[in-house]
Amino acid sequence: MIKINHLVVLASVSAMLAGYGPAASADAAAGKATFTTACAECHDVADFEGEDAAALRGTLKQIVAGSQKHKEALQLTDAQIADVAAYMTSGK
Ligand code: HEC
Repeated sequence: MIKINHLVVLASVSAMLAGYGPAASADAAAGKATFTTACAECHDVADFEGEDAAALRGTLKQIVAGSQKHKEALQLTDAQIADVAAYMTSGK
C-alpha cells in the first residue's frame, strides 16, 4: 500500500529538497499539537531538543518520502514538518 506511489513520492521529494532552507513561518504551537498526536506515543520531545531545525526538517522530508527508514510511514505536509521541527528542536 505504501509502495504504490513510490516513484511519484521520490520525484516530489526532490522538488521539496530543492526548497530546503529556513522555514519562513514555523509555528511551534501547531507543531506541538502534531507531535502530541502523531509522534509522542514513540518519541520524547526532549530527545530532539537543541538539534538543528533545518537538518531535522530534511530528515522528516526524507521519512515522509519513504527514502529514510522509519518505524512507520509518516504523512506530514511541508508546513507540518516546519512546525513540528520548530517545536521539537525548541524542546517545549
Ligand atoms: C510507532 C512509533 C513511532 C512513531 C509514531 C514515530 N516514530 Fe519516529 N522513530 C521511531 C523509531 C523506533 C525510530 C528509530 C528507528 C528507526 O528509524 O526506525 C524513529 C526515528 C525517528 C527520527 C530519526 C532520528 C535520527 O536521529 O535519525 C526522527 C527525526 C523521527 N523518528 C521523527 C518522528 C516524528 C516527527 C514523528 C511524528 C510525526 C514520529 N517520528 C513518529 C518510532 C516512531
